[in-house]
Amino acid sequence: MKKEENLMEEIVSLAKRKGFIFPACEIYGGLANSYSYGPYGVELKNNIKKLWWDTFVKQRSDIIGMDGPILLNTKLWEASGHTEGFNDAMVDCKKCKKRFRADHVVLELTGKDMEGDLDGMTKVLQKGLKCPECGESDWTEVKNMSQMFKTEMNSVSGPIYLRPETAGAIFVDFKNILDSTRVKIPFGIAQIGKAFRNEIVARNFIFRIREFEQMEIEYFIDPEAEWEPLFDDWLDKQEEFAMMLGAKKEDLRRYQHPKEKLSHYSKKTVDVEYNFPFGFGELFGLAHRGNFDLTQHAKSSGQKLEYSDAVNNKKYVPHVLEPTAGLDRLILTSLCSAYAVEKLENGERVVMKFPKTIAPIKIAVFPLMKNKPDLVKKAKEVFDILKMKYMCEFDDNGNVGKRYRRQDEIGTPYCITVDFDTIEKDNTVTVRDRDTMAQVRVKTEELKNYFIENL
Ligand code: GAP
Repeated sequence: MKKEENLMEEIVSLAKRKGFIFPACEIYGGLANSYSYGPYGVELKNNIKKLWWDTFVKQRSDIIGMDGPILLNTKLWEASGHTEGFNDAMVDCKKCKKRFRADHVVLELTGKDMEGDLDGMTKVLQKGLKCPECGESDWTEVKNMSQMFKTEMNSVSGPIYLRPETAGAIFVDFKNILDSTRVKIPFGIAQIGKAFRNEIVARNFIFRIREFEQMEIEYFIDPEAEWEPLFDDWLDKQEEFAMMLGAKKEDLRRYQHPKEKLSHYSKKTVDVEYNFPFGFGELFGLAHRGNFDLTQHAKSSGQKLEYSDAVNNKKYVPHVLEPTAGLDRLILTSLCSAYAVEKLENGERVVMKFPKTIAPIKIAVFPLMKNKPDLVKKAKEVFDILKMKYMCEFDDNGNVGKRYRRQDEIGTPYCITVDFDTIEKDNTVTVRDRDTMAQVRVKTEELKNYFIENL
């Protein structure tokens, strides 16, 4: 087994053991590749969402937010082309009954990218390519399978769908946003929310799942304006965001989609990829989508989806740049980037070196001993003060060394220990730094300022 595969297993195991992420509904045997975020996972997830929202909405004057529903009018997905064309190529091995994404298996076995060419892939597979699972060569024909999750609503006739992306809701609410705000082009609309795709093969932990979260922006621009500098700037911003989560620059790369693979309306699409233990995979996408979406929805709904440009005295359907991110993939990036095993004099420690902004717990508070009421009382007082501002944890279980190890494994930047000097001498506590393991003594009344400076 490759070292990288071990590394992924270690991260998945830590995620379960420490309550970041575990298989959902496990007591009933789970459900293929569906995961729950546990107590530390949900903190990490919320911190990443907040950082994204702060960076791209709160700290900018040209981007506003919205939150649309998961269930939307089916006409939206017909107009966007999803009901007809949101498909993946599927192939089954007749011997072991294992199902594959045909383009992925062909690429893996031949190195050829044949995405979209169903007949070509059938021919190549049936020429004798061996099933990666059982080693036999007995394939079905390659067929398209819709990625749309279909459901029904009592008050509506015909199928409705769980949204396969958050972007759709932004386009159909474009008019309401123009009418209710004073936005001026260029401007963006941002949304965070769940998306659902009936993936043929979900894999690599939370990298490819069927229910996931996206953080998307539709950035509307004047069709006649120069867009390349904006496009490049968005790519830089996406990479910078990945680095704010702990990714190293050298673990990021850009993949530009070749011209012949672009949709007819797209001028350019580039993915930002991260070097996961299983190889490079897409984190962000950035697409120039022209005016395709607004034009389609205008045609289909009969409503005008135009922008009146008072500055230049013209009316037009804006073009759009779409920077999009997968939240679960960013969480996986933060876990992979943070994971470290360090040699110590007396063994080793596993430490999650999350950037402080996204660490699930910021401060852990310990009484040196749990059977000394004065120590416990003082430690609780410190905990009660700090928890009003920071996500804190109180731990009085086991020796302090073990408590440090526990906090290292969940990536807590600071641990405070209340000891006898605190109550008998000078009202100071020890503050231990996760990364350097250095300890300093800080007066309890100065703790608030200490953390304002350090967190
Ligand atoms: N509106 C554009 C759009 O949805 P996409 O590249 O299909 O573009 C955007 O998806 C992002 O969503 C991807 O860059 C990826 O990070 C994430 N994503 C897509 N499919 C996913 C899946 N099955 N599991 C987890 N994340 C996924």
